[in-house]
Amino acid sequence: MELNLVMLGPPGAGKGTQARQLRRHWNIPHISTGAMLREAVQAGTPLGREVAAIMESGGLISDEVITRVVTERLSNGDTNNGFLLDGYPRTIPQAEALDGLVAGRAPLIIVEIVLSEAEVVRRLASRMVCAECGTNAVGEGTTCYDCGGPLVPRADDREQVVLNRLKVYRDQTEPLVQYYGSRLTYCRVDGARLPDDVTADIIREVEERASKTTAWP
Ligand code: AP5
Ligand code: MG
Repeated sequence: MELNLVMLGPPGAGKGTQARQLRRHWNIPHISTGAMLREAVQAGTPLGREVAAIMESGGLISDEVITRVVTERLSNGDTNNGFLLDGYPRTIPQAEALDGLVAGRAPLIIVEIVLSEAEVVRRLASRMVCAECGTNAVGEGTTCYDCGGPLVPRADDREQVVLNRLKVYRDQTEPLVQYYGSRLTYCRVDGARLPDDVTADIIREVEERASKTTAWP
């Protein structure tokens, strides 16, 4: 059995937060293109140097570059039982590339997490992340609960950049709702609720769709 998930939704919708719960629930790898790119920036690799300024402005890096990164990542054997993609695809050409990449595998199940722009701006204004490992801070502490690193605002969470990320989402990523919307494996959940309630909804929706389209469980 193979579960191939795509998490769709605006910045701050909770894609990363949900993916961290869901990867444990289904035991499939969480593949966050944003996290992979931030690691490359932090490590100063050629990829990181190429994308740093674009990420800091809230723009998208090229379809070609990110698709190369994802193609390589999906070829890893740890995705044989599925994967949880967070932040890819983000454009129609990326979605078309992904359809090609998963040809012959279990169908993609697409989860759109819906959140208003006002709530996105509110959430990201106060988000803190670990400067060492990039994990979102939880609660009131001043250090990362995962690794003990110091907490800082994320580099692309300044309000002007958040507004640009929202515009980029509207213009380039929202068309994916249309692209995927008619598939039987497409579902939407309301992201404006307690994280555990959102997780429960996603699990129910995904397992219902998986049971109709694959030999699940
Ligand atoms: P990426 O890292 O993917 O950023 P994003 O899509 O803007 O989303 P975020 O990570 O900000 O939000 P999230 O939905 O994961 O929410 P989270 O769970 O953290 O991409 C960053 C950049 O990389 C892009 O701008 C682009 O430059 C580049 N990039 C990446 N992929 C690319 C691609 N495919 N093509 C081209 N470029 C690409 O939650 C947010 C906050 O809300 C946290 O503080 C969290 O604690 C809180 N929260 C979460 N859930 C709840 C809840 N239910 N209730 C209350 N608070 C909540
Ligand atoms: Mg994220």
